[in-house]
Amino acid sequence: MVTSWLRVGAVVLLCSGLWACPGLPPPPDGGVVEPRDAAGEDAGVPDGGAPSPSCLTLEAVDPAVVDAGRRFLFEGSVGGPLVPKLAFDNLWRVWATVPPADVPAAIRARYGFVPALTPNDGLPMGFRLDNGWVRADCLVCHAGEVAGQVVVGAPSTRLQLELFVDDLKALAQLVGQQPPNPPRVRTGARGISDIVGMTMQLALRTTNPGVPINTEIGYQDPPAWWTLATKTRTYVDGSGPQSAHRTMMATQLAFGATQQSLEQQEPEYIALRAYLLTLPPPAWPFTAPATDAVARGRELFRERCTACHRDDRCERSESVIVPRGSLGTDAERSVKYGPNEVGLINASWFGTGQAHQSTGGYLAPSLRGVWASAPYLHNGSVPTLEGVLDSTKRPRFFRVRGTSRAEYDEAAVGLKVDVLTAAPVNPTSAERADVYDTTRPGLGNGGHLFGDSLTDAQRRDVLEFLKTQ
Ligand code: HEC
Ligand code: HEC
Repeated sequence: MVTSWLRVGAVVLLCSGLWACPGLPPPPDGGVVEPRDAAGEDAGVPDGGAPSPSCLTLEAVDPAVVDAGRRFLFEGSVGGPLVPKLAFDNLWRVWATVPPADVPAAIRARYGFVPALTPNDGLPMGFRLDNGWVRADCLVCHAGEVAGQVVVGAPSTRLQLELFVDDLKALAQLVGQQPPNPPRVRTGARGISDIVGMTMQLALRTTNPGVPINTEIGYQDPPAWWTLATKTRTYVDGSGPQSAHRTMMATQLAFGATQQSLEQQEPEYIALRAYLLTLPPPAWPFTAPATDAVARGRELFRERCTACHRDDRCERSESVIVPRGSLGTDAERSVKYGPNEVGLINASWFGTGQAHQSTGGYLAPSLRGVWASAPYLHNGSVPTLEGVLDSTKRPRFFRVRGTSRAEYDEAAVGLKVDVLTAAPVNPTSAERADVYDTTRPGLGNGGHLFGDSLTDAQRRDVLEFLKTQ
């Protein structure tokens, strides 16, 4: 048991693995494209008629490679051993004195894990039993429950990683083990954690870059995987080239992988990326939108939005990165992932040949399947598309009700929330993350005012159109 717990410590300590680690870099390539036309000027509100981006074709993928990637994710050894199954099953001891009636359900509810699609030994989505140990993989963060359906590639909107790591530490203490020393996992609100900041903390454990490195980089909501094929840059600030696979591999350093093991598995991860390129967006599962409204919304979208967002006539297009000043959304994520932080990544194996770039802005996401990736904006600060398009409808303090079909907001397109008048006073970590407090640093819900000048009727039409994407 002692060695097990030491191992828990070591692995939790690594539980911060998105894009870690050092080596030697090439300089960043070009790739930042600013909005076409005059879209970025005057607080960035374009007044229509913006030209469409030139369309790109989808990257061709080999079906055999795609299948290998899918099998690697669902049946292979993506994750490493994270905790003993015994410890996972006993996590309730940290917060309860008697075992909950349904331990797996109680664990899912507390940490916001998504139910697995198979029996999975009682473990949630993204976890797998392996020789008495629990492995964790990409799907802990990249599978979500949307209107009552588990969807691979959707962001996990209820995830409370900070609490999970804190409880693992507390459990170690409970059984008399030296508490591990994991990097801080900052969860700003359920589903919204600072994965980039954790990575920086990890990278600093093995490297001294000789320049100050930010270890708090705002908060991030994982982009939906089914948008990957449609763009040319990745990450919310467009810092990564879309063709890259290594920084996404680095997540597995959080789960017991080493750089050496990752280098050996590189072909599998290249296949996994190919699989991601084939994931379809889920179809709108409610009343089909009226065709005339969709047609009007499409016209408006092409007129008002495609200076930045992918035109619906393009399968794929050059990603547009909008300078944060003219965009006005929360600046933290973009500011804090600056030249020094990018330099640290590029100086590592993970950035070699696939260099990151400090962009100073945010990528205009492809709106493919956008109805299924609420909450919105890079930090998940706006629960519905209606709020994205009408800044007067964005709640300052809110609690997401849940992920069932009844808790999906069909009218406003997104998540139903309870609006609060203030944030809880002196909250525990668990209570704090249950309320999205947009007044906290990194969680601001301002900016992107491009829908404000539309009339209510026009906004409704755009929403109807977006349901079909
Ligand atoms: C601990 C949570 C977590 C895990 C585990 C994780 N990711 Fe992510 N992933 C994120 C977050 C958060 C982002 C967005 C970060 C940003 O852009 O600031 C992201 C971004 C990405 C992107 C870029 C998407 C885009 O369109 O810009 C890809 C691709 C990706 N992850 C793939 C993977 C793969 C493959 C794995 C497993 C090998 C994985 N991730 C594991 C949280 C996670
Ligand atoms: C000047 C460029 C620009 C224009 C014009 C623009 N957007 Fe955006 N949009 C962005 C950027 C950049 C983001 C990402 C902002 C962030 O996450 O901080 C974004 C984010 C969004 C999101 C959230 C997506 C997500 O996955 O969270 C939606 C929805 C959206 N835009 C819809 C629209 C619609 C509809 C229009 C037209 C009425 C429009 N946008 C016009 C640049 C633009």
